[in-house]
Amino acid sequence: MAISLPSLGCDKNEIDTPILCVDLDVMEANILAMSEQCRRHSLGWRPHIKCHKSPLIARKLLDAGAMGVTCAKLGEAEVMSAAGIGELLVANMIVGPKKLARLVDLRRQTDLLVCVDHPVQAEAFDAVMRAAGLKLRVLVEVDLGMNRVGVAPGDAALRLARAVDQLPGLQLAGVMGYEGHLLMLSDPQEKESRIRETLGWLVETKELLLRSGLPCPVVSCGGTGSFAQAVRQPGITELQAGGGIFMDAFYREGCHVDQGNFALTVLATVVSRPTAERAVIDAGRKTMNVDVHPALVAGRNDILVESLSAEHGSLRLAPSARDLPIGHRLEIVPGYSDLTCVLHDHMYGFRGNRLEVIWPLEARGRLQ
Ligand SMILES: Cc1ncc(COP(=O)(O)O)c(C=O)c1O
Repeated sequence: MAISLPSLGCDKNEIDTPILCVDLDVMEANILAMSEQCRRHSLGWRPHIKCHKSPLIARKLLDAGAMGVTCAKLGEAEVMSAAGIGELLVANMIVGPKKLARLVDLRRQTDLLVCVDHPVQAEAFDAVMRAAGLKLRVLVEVDLGMNRVGVAPGDAALRLARAVDQLPGLQLAGVMGYEGHLLMLSDPQEKESRIRETLGWLVETKELLLRSGLPCPVVSCGGTGSFAQAVRQPGITELQAGGGIFMDAFYREGCHVDQGNFALTVLATVVSRPTAERAVIDAGRKTMNVDVHPALVAGRNDILVESLSAEHGSLRLAPSARDLPIGHRLEIVPGYSDLTCVLHDHMYGFRGNRLEVIWPLEARGRLQ
């Protein structure tokens, strides 16, 4: 049975809950601020789309000055390309014959960037690209201490860059890294200096490549949790920060990011009042993510999101909130916007309380 979507122009209060809402004015201001800061520091902005997975939002980012977008999966890049979004970076390893065949098809459509951290991936890319008469732009992914993927900065990265450069189906395009292990440092000076030192390894690797006669036009890094520090890093060429267009409790409280305002909320309804101190809403773990960071109730610091089960959210009420009636609606700022959006088919964009747009999150579930 097809669910009927609400009509554009209707009031927020007319729409059933739970839904994923975006305040368009706030999101647009966040986008403008990020884009403007990159521009002021002469950096490209290639925002990660993993936090929304919508080509329509990607289009808004490009219109606001982004040079392209970063994708977490080949499937996301396919959705973006099909919608006419160009300058794609797949910031993840692409391995296996089925994906390589899809990568060739995608490369026929668009001159995307991919990354490698081992000659085996590079050789596989080279073989399929040469067979198809194509050339693929490749970044060497450097491990900046996150211990996820990536080769060590310096000589190891240089060796891999040389290997890539020698493969005729590939074009060495530069280096990338992600300083994700430093986002939550609470001391601002320590955070600043650790990020500067860490991104410095990426920049030194670029300089080593250049001194060795290799090209390195792209130096890509940066996330929302490190945006303020990364944007001031000399020697990098572009930032991948994406989730800051929504902002959330994790970025604000976990990563101590003071820029940007909360644009993304889950609109929920109080469905039960089991005790004077507790209310239950119709939004649980299948509606919002709290594993990375607890959620907040927008505009109500007298209501605490205490625990979530699959379909229920349990709220602890301070004395000033104990008159909360069944049927009352609350907006919840998700703990982590990225892992909340993937739970929803649509995002509802409001101008004030008026529904202006419904975005299908088209690349959701494109995990391959
Ligand atoms: C490769 C990469 N770049 C950048 C980011 C930052 O993304 P965001 O700004 O949405 O937090 C991430 C986050 O996981 C990432 O994995």
